[in-house]
Order: sequence, then C-alpha cells, then structure tokens
Amino acid sequence: MRKPIVAANWKMHGSRQMTRELISAVDEGLDNGWSVEVLVCPPFVYIDEASKQLAGTDILLGAQHLNPNPGGAHTGEISASMLVDLGCSHVIVGHSERRAMYGDDDQVVAANFVAAQEAGLVPVLCVGESLEEREQGITDQVVCEQLSAVLDAAGVEAFANAVVAYEPVWAIGTGKTATPEQAQAVHKTIRGLIAGHSDKIAGDLRILYGGSVKGSNAQALFGMPDIDGGLIGGASLKADEFVAICAAAGTLE
Ligand code: 13P
Repeated sequence: MRKPIVAANWKMHGSRQMTRELISAVDEGLDNGWSVEVLVCPPFVYIDEASKQLAGTDILLGAQHLNPNPGGAHTGEISASMLVDLGCSHVIVGHSERRAMYGDDDQVVAANFVAAQEAGLVPVLCVGESLEEREQGITDQVVCEQLSAVLDAAGVEAFANAVVAYEPVWAIGTGKTATPEQAQAVHKTIRGLIAGHSDKIAGDLRILYGGSVKGSNAQALFGMPDIDGGLIGGASLKADEFVAICAAAGTLE
C-alpha cells in the first residue's frame, strides 16, 4: 500500500517566531503510530529556522520553488543544491499560483522538475484546471497536458521519485473543496496516464489532493482509492487543523 503524505504549503506566510511555534506544535500533535509522511514547505527565508526546529523529528522539509540553473548570475533566485544544503528533501514545482502569476509555464515546470531531481530533491508536481476549464469539460485534457510536458522532458522513470499533487485552481483558498468523487476521477486519470508508460511506477506513485482541505473533509478525500494524502495551504497554518489532517491520512483502514 502507498504510504500517504500530508504536505504543508505555507505560501508567503509566517515569521521566524511562527516557524518555531507552528513546527513545535505540529510535532507535539503527531502520533508515532500514524502511517503518514509529513512534509513542511515554509518560505525560503524560514527554511533554515525550520530545519533546526525539525532536527530529531520525522517531519520532512521542502521548499515551494526553485530556479533550475545550478548557480550563477540569477539575482534573487535559489538553486536546488542550496535547498539540499539547508536540509530540504522535497520541492513544490508548478503550483498554480506560480503558473498564473510568475510565468511558470509547462517548459519552466519541466525544467524545475528535472533540476530538482538532479540535485536529489523529490519534486512535488502540481497540476490542475481552472474553473473555466472545468466548465468547458476539459479538466482531463488540461491535467494530462501539464503532466505530459514533464513526462516528455523527464521520462516515466522520473516519476518513481516524485509526487504529484492535483490541485483544482477553483478549490484553492476558496473553501470550495472538490468532492471526493470529483477528485478521485482526476486522480484516476493521472494514474492512468502514468500507467500507460509503466504500471509499476503508476501503482507506487503518491498523488495528493490540494484545495481547501480541512480536518473535517480530509478523511472522505483520503479514503478514495487514488488519493494518497494532501497538499495543504490555509489549514497548514493552524497546528490543530494540520494535525487533524495528518491523523485522517495516517489512520486510514
Ligand atoms: P488551500 O488549502 O488554502 O486551499 O491551498 C491549497 C494549496 O494551494 C496548497 O498548495
């Protein structure tokens, strides 16, 4: 069985104090008996603080973005090897906010994915449709195109060491969660696309759902056969909510 992952995407929130307090409260709330991997992705500037706080815990550390170049004249940017140096094991690539606001198109996302893996990071590849695209009935097409851009660049083998997150744009930060059935249908499509290249890799791939996940709706979502945990925004900033989501993932029958 695939071990679920619950990942916190803090987005552009926090402070040094919040980083210390939130991580310490989450760590205290987690139960060793739960079968779940927990990942925290703070803003770049708090990764080091988080890394110190996480020492000795089982919580994994990730970043929200990277620049695909190995180094050099890229003012303001952060490379994959810098993230590894700070103790990161994961990095989010292709989040819809970056796709919509910072020009991360499919080519950029694929380059970021490849650069992350080359440095030893596990990319968490986000895909998802807008409300308009869902209403046009092209959800599967949009998601498959986003995924195919990375498959073409990196090959299916790369997905043995990656995580996919399905995040419908209309469900992010809106309080409108996809129903478990809506999410399951897209997760099945994603796994099916990968299975077209390798059944084994598809069967092992963790596919997370993101978009207004809360303690109260997590169990129903994570109970679906192709949903292997969540990528959590707003609710990851509240320790009790985030821990409740981890509990839902970690105590599935
Ligand atoms: P919310 O949980 O706030 O809807 O955000 C989801 C998300 O974008 C996580 O990456």
